[in-house]
Amino acid sequence: MPGFFIVNFDTRQLPWESVDHLVIGSGIAGLYTAYLLSRSGRGVVVVTKKMVGNTATERAQGGIAAAIGTSDSPLLHLQDTLRAGAGLCDPEAVRILVTEGPDRVRDLVGMGTCFARTDAGFALVREGAHRQRRILYAGGDATGAEIQRALCHQVRRLNIPILENHFVVDLLVHHGQCYGALVLDETTGRLVAFRSKAVILASGGAGQLFRQTTNPLVATGDGIALAYRAGAAVTDLEFVQFHPTVLALPEGCTFLISEAVRGEGGVLRNAAGEAFMARYHPDAELAPRDVVTRAILTEMKATAAHVFLDVTHLPADSLRRRFPTIAQTCAGLGLDIAREWIPVAPAAHYMMGGVQTNVHGETAVADLYACGEVACVGVHGANRLASNSLLDGLVFGGRIVERILARPAGWRAGPEFACSELRAAGRVDYVGLRTALQDQMDAHLGPIREPSGLEQSLRFFERYDYLQRCAAPDPEAMEVHNLLQVGALVTEAALARRESRGGHYRTDYPEPRECWRKHLIFQRASRNEPAD
Ligand code: SIN
Repeated sequence: MPGFFIVNFDTRQLPWESVDHLVIGSGIAGLYTAYLLSRSGRGVVVVTKKMVGNTATERAQGGIAAAIGTSDSPLLHLQDTLRAGAGLCDPEAVRILVTEGPDRVRDLVGMGTCFARTDAGFALVREGAHRQRRILYAGGDATGAEIQRALCHQVRRLNIPILENHFVVDLLVHHGQCYGALVLDETTGRLVAFRSKAVILASGGAGQLFRQTTNPLVATGDGIALAYRAGAAVTDLEFVQFHPTVLALPEGCTFLISEAVRGEGGVLRNAAGEAFMARYHPDAELAPRDVVTRAILTEMKATAAHVFLDVTHLPADSLRRRFPTIAQTCAGLGLDIAREWIPVAPAAHYMMGGVQTNVHGETAVADLYACGEVACVGVHGANRLASNSLLDGLVFGGRIVERILARPAGWRAGPEFACSELRAAGRVDYVGLRTALQDQMDAHLGPIREPSGLEQSLRFFERYDYLQRCAAPDPEAMEVHNLLQVGALVTEAALARRESRGGHYRTDYPEPRECWRKHLIFQRASRNEPAD
């Protein structure tokens, strides 16, 4: 049965390490979950494929949404989240997100996260599709870095082991039950089998499917791919969020210009200098992200040029104080944001879909949990509301721990695992293949999708189906195997969904269709392959 693993191995010939709980990933969801488990006296080890701070969390600029302002309420936050989600959010999951969110954010504060404050309490700002000022931020535009710092500090204080440069190759699943994971220690080149009572997948998203992305290089969809191979259900993969305003440089778009810049009054202008957003949506610059992204692309097409974000009417001092990272990065490129318009274009930013979970973070595989961007509990629907992603990681990471603590924690005798049928791939240029894949995705799975492009993309992935029967020789190849797996699923889902909704827009079906108010779920037959 090809495709269940991506390397040949036999756990009878590998070292086994036993850990109570194995957390995969070191962003907000992984570190917070590890912290809570350890604080409750549970053993936990974090594995992360590069360095601990190499995460999407670290790069998050805008902030974290929570209904804590005096004029705000969880109900208003719920309504905004549902509206942005374009009819595909799970209302119960959203209710949990917005009602439990404020206490989780206070927990972060208790752990030492320094959010910006005014004399009246937390400084709260607005972003797109929020009707209230409810975004907490830190360090001006360095919110994620501050959260990552505070969480790392706490995790180290509790002496939770963080194994850096550990690549999770596959999950060890038998009869729908997760027993641990097969991990490559990149510093020694050794494969290690981790046995654990529960595995918590918090490995982030898949932005590296695209060349134009705000995501770090590590965001190669590994968690979605390995959960899918292990028999978990994955869902909503056609819904990729493209951030409207990413710094447009000749070499591409990867540096985010936070939505908070528009929240503070930044104006989008086309090449003719026209502030165009009011023509597309009554909320203009603060319309939902998918709307702003498509408006920008329409203007770019009409003028054959970039659009610009104009903040030159805002006071220079407060701009530099409020957005120090953006101001400094642009200054380093010779652009003074207080005097010049910032060239921007959309780029891939966030996966709304992922490993399907219930509101306790449980997946279709027993003792395999998922939270954060890798997971899909249903809070984002077809289009995530700005600054709800960090909150999602916190709230549902916290609920996983509650679930684990409420259960009897025993070791299950597990089988040995092996795979021996994968053949050598021969000469595959994995670097070239990764680039070719990104080119396909940029061309055909972007914010505006054409049916012929989707068909072409499907054929591209079919050409590389044979790699499922081949062993991945090294971590770079493993990432490409994972990208191929997830890219193929995204394409299949986008082709199947014959409508436009939220982040998924098709030129041949430009409107939402009631018959498509449903989720596409992919799940392969579960694995049943212990060693002979
Ligand atoms: C931003 O700062 O614009 C990104 C925030 C988010 O993705 O929610």
